[in-house]
Amino acid sequence: MRIEHIREVLGTPYYEADGCALYNMDCLTAMRDLPVEVVDLTVTSPPYNIGKEYDKDWPLPDYLDWCIQWIRELYRITRSEGAFWLNLGYLSMPGRAKAIPIPYLLWNRIPFFLIQEIVWHYGAGVAGRKFFSPRNEKFLWYVKDQDSYTFNLDDVRDPNVKYPNQKKNGKIKVNRIGKNPADVWQFPKVTSGTKRAAKERTPHPAQFPISVIERIVKSSSHPGDVVLDPFMGSGTTAVVALSLGRQVVGFEIRRDYCELAAQRLSDYLTIRKEREAQAQLFPNMNT
Ligand SMILES: C[S@@+](CC[C@H](N)C(=O)[O-])C[C@H]1O[C@@H](n2cnc3c(N)ncnc32)[C@H](O)[C@@H]1O
Repeated sequence: MRIEHIREVLGTPYYEADGCALYNMDCLTAMRDLPVEVVDLTVTSPPYNIGKEYDKDWPLPDYLDWCIQWIRELYRITRSEGAFWLNLGYLSMPGRAKAIPIPYLLWNRIPFFLIQEIVWHYGAGVAGRKFFSPRNEKFLWYVKDQDSYTFNLDDVRDPNVKYPNQKKNGKIKVNRIGKNPADVWQFPKVTSGTKRAAKERTPHPAQFPISVIERIVKSSSHPGDVVLDPFMGSGTTAVVALSLGRQVVGFEIRRDYCELAAQRLSDYLTIRKEREAQAQLFPNMNT
């Protein structure tokens, strides 16, 4: 229901499908128009202001002020039991730091409650000569209400348990579904290049890996919830959320990226339809 409400306020999306609305617009403008508490979960990575093709190259104080503005607006439109997962990298501060984690500059200026910092460790990247080779990014898990928030641990347990039959007082000690995946996550980056490009690779220069977003969406939302990515890029959050039965809203300021995301969603929905049609034709195929 809430996604229809969002459509009523923002008008016809750039792309829409059942349970999904993508808008080619500035997310701050869009969020300012939305009513309170319409979103359950936000998963996003905004521009880092480091000279990427979609960056604006703001003076640092202006960039931080802008981050605070959109995060405050996001807080207003997030439901009371909702969550906000923020992927933010590093920027250089001449004379102060080669690479300072951007959340250090924001943490006490935003209204959300920080539950945890997750370290996303990936296998490959540039090799440092005068410093350790960078191999991680952070995801900050924020909630609105520190006493009441969604956490579906069983949906994301790691089945790869070393001693599954370990007992304590005669009882199996380990959870049968698997262990808590802990706060350091190993997932490869979406690789590029003619020979080693990942299957999920799109032309977007800063694409999230599907596997990371799956863990976040499963753990922090329920089927039917509204998931938002205000900096949608190639639409990874949208594709994952839709595939997990959530409703999806996305904002992207650039038309070419919006088109990329729309195409990705439309391709996903076509494949899903074909699979459903096959399953109807051959209902016992997997038995
Ligand atoms: C780091 S990328 C996100 C990539 C995305 N996570 C993915 O998987 O492809 C940030 C995106 O935010 C978009 N963007 C920048 N400013 C914006 C704004 N004010 N409103 C909406 N989108 C914006 C950029 O064009 C860029 O595509």
